[in-house]
Amino acid sequence: MQFTTTREQAGKLDCDCLIVGLIKDQAFDSTLSTIDSATGGLLERLKSKGELPEKVGKTLMLHDPSGIEASRLLLVGMGKSEKLDGPAFVRAAQAAGKALRQSHARNAHCLLAEVGVSDRGTDWKVHQACLALAHSDYIYSATKKTDDDAPPATDMVSFPAGDNLEEVLSRSEAIAAGIQRCRDLGDAPPNICTPIYLAETAERIAAEHPGLNVEILDEQQMEEIGMRSLLAVGRGSINPPRLIRLSWKGGKEGDAPLALVGKGVTFDTGGISIKPRDLMEQMKFDMCGAASVIGALEAAARLKLPINVEGVVAAVENMPDGKAYRPGDVITALSGKTIEVHNTDAEGRMILADAIYWTGRELKPAAMVDIATLTGACVVALGHHASGIMTQNDELAEELLAAGLEAADRGWRLPLWDEYQEQIETPFADMKNLGGMPAGSITAACLLARFAEGQRWAHIDIAGSAWRWGKPESATGRPVGMLVQWLESHAGG
Ligand code: BES
Ligand code: MN
Ligand code: ZN
Repeated sequence: MQFTTTREQAGKLDCDCLIVGLIKDQAFDSTLSTIDSATGGLLERLKSKGELPEKVGKTLMLHDPSGIEASRLLLVGMGKSEKLDGPAFVRAAQAAGKALRQSHARNAHCLLAEVGVSDRGTDWKVHQACLALAHSDYIYSATKKTDDDAPPATDMVSFPAGDNLEEVLSRSEAIAAGIQRCRDLGDAPPNICTPIYLAETAERIAAEHPGLNVEILDEQQMEEIGMRSLLAVGRGSINPPRLIRLSWKGGKEGDAPLALVGKGVTFDTGGISIKPRDLMEQMKFDMCGAASVIGALEAAARLKLPINVEGVVAAVENMPDGKAYRPGDVITALSGKTIEVHNTDAEGRMILADAIYWTGRELKPAAMVDIATLTGACVVALGHHASGIMTQNDELAEELLAAGLEAADRGWRLPLWDEYQEQIETPFADMKNLGGMPAGSITAACLLARFAEGQRWAHIDIAGSAWRWGKPESATGRPVGMLVQWLESHAGG
């Protein structure tokens, strides 16, 4: 989907669909009044019959409205004006996107940003409308033919011209591409999306963007440097692990980078501590942290951010096998610390222990954020709306929370107090990889914290936010929006 601007007046614009927002219990604004009078009072008539969609999430598609050039008019409910905040605007824009997807419109003109949203300006509204429309436009097609009667995609959406709007739109295109990359990788089946596939994808993206470099460590190289914790998890799989490093060099040579580290478990059976059979197929999404890192680096390159950014992905498959690691094993991680395995299904923290330590030691970042579908407990705690943010650094927590709010890709902080550390003590090693039932997300982060010592580091648990159940089940592309916003906030943007 491409975005553009136009100076043409809405009623005179020849397009497949005109998208307008409606605020409940409020007189028509100038846009709506113009459309209403051009159509001979159509909107007023619908209003008097109570047929206007006014609630957030409701839409009404009108075909061949007379008096205006557009061949469809999509009315989008925005709810009451006092309740119309950023998240409500995004929900309304997503509903608009769904309705547009089901129509045969190939191009559209979007007036959603004309409605007033508390604390949000036009640029923000246009950007979020772009992301919502692009997101809804996508139908998975990598391994399934699209239905013959499926309506075509909408290629082009225009917005009323405004100051710097072209820049806003090109930023939106870059971020939408990063989000789309993250979704494509997340949705890809685990027999295709293996650690090597992730590595090859990173190589392909790097080849497309000057300034974006890639380095891949194979298992032999990881063996040599002693990444035993990461390798232990990969040992049961026929698909060998990879450590992928994408580097965006947009800043000055020698400037400390910002680092993103992603959990890339391309399939998580649980290993010897095998998962129950129901819903195991969902564990193809266990590489969404990795996908978000790759997507964020792609967006950073497209945006040509004037900073250095490192993306590190720990890519493995967790399988049960004669060679697999087992409960009771004690593994010496790259840092030299020992981990007693209590559950091979707590594999994310094992691979991140080495990836985080390696990133700190080799790349010396100014700040490091890891992103992982780490714990089912995070889904219990926060559901699907917020990513869990855990860090001992209050300033970094604030940065990420603020970035999430701005990007409409929100996080919520959970405590990472020292008191929780005691739950991962064991007589047989420096720590165990299981903290018991209480605060499962936090005790997982406690283990990571031991490998991030001395770093300005935060952990984001995206087990609930990275993909959506139901129809259609799909990766959400989160938290690419939050991550890119955070990177931009360090780029003076
Ligand atoms: N990948 C899972 C976490 C997960 C579960 C993500 C459900 C999304 C939905 C992770 O590797 C895992 O298995 N975690 C275990 C940890 C436990 C063994 C301490 C969990 O959450 O049950
Ligand atoms: Mn697991
Ligand atoms: Zn996992």
